[in-house]
Amino acid sequence: MQLTSSSIGRKILMAVTGQAMVLFAVVHLLGNSSIFGWLNGGINAYAEHLHSLPLPIIIGFRLALLAMVCVHIWFGIQLTIENRGGRPQQYAVKSTQKATFASENMIWTGVLLGCFLVYHLTHFTFQIIDPQTAALKNLVPLHDAMVPNVLGMVVTGFKNFFVSLIYVGAMVALFLHLSHGIQSFFQTMGWSCDKSQPLLVKFGTLVALGLFLGYVTIPLTIFAGILKG
Ligand code: HEM
Repeated sequence: MQLTSSSIGRKILMAVTGQAMVLFAVVHLLGNSSIFGWLNGGINAYAEHLHSLPLPIIIGFRLALLAMVCVHIWFGIQLTIENRGGRPQQYAVKSTQKATFASENMIWTGVLLGCFLVYHLTHFTFQIIDPQTAALKNLVPLHDAMVPNVLGMVVTGFKNFFVSLIYVGAMVALFLHLSHGIQSFFQTMGWSCDKSQPLLVKFGTLVALGLFLGYVTIPLTIFAGILKG
């Protein structure tokens, strides 16, 4: 099979940006888990730590994240169109794996995650969806200072059945996308062989499952009334 350097380059860029976002998802989950109280001051203290970082770091981080999302989506759409147009799968190493529901639907789980991200940022970062509960408008005391009430905003959000449903649905899409995406990264980079492939599939599925369970625990415990504001 003849591979063009442009298609390999695009696949590698997709794989690397994808893994960088997986890393972000892991760190974001660890930060969000402060909602369960392991950090003094909980998620409000965690958000305050993030917001007290120097502005160029915050802006640089957000721009880098945005650039990665754009590159990943742009090349993802291009490669899907090319593959559906009859061109072969372009991995650095020949694929020996079977198609699965997750691998066949990467474009659709990706589209769902893109929509979720727009909704999520509008909800918790720009705080436009429910302005009355916006953290920035409701300050609460923390260590002698007044800080945005991120806990109140998240808890009020997830008490709503439809909001929790959107998050749980999006996390199912995240699980499917990553359960294929993580092992596919190793394959694209040429770091897998017939022997390691089944292990990498298990590893990818395990990481995706860990992220799924970690993320859904937040809306589910709030909706069930176990975690309160
Ligand atoms: C239960 C699930 C989640 C909760 C409770 C949650 C919570 C939050 C909160 C509170 C913020 C605003 C942080 C702030 O500016 O103070 C935020 C931002 C963000 N979230 Fe989530 N999140 C969840 C799931 C996810 C997932 C699955 C992703 C994608 C992998 C994601 C991606 C982002 C991004 C990109 C930002 C913006 C980061 C920034 O401002 O620099 N979130 N999230």
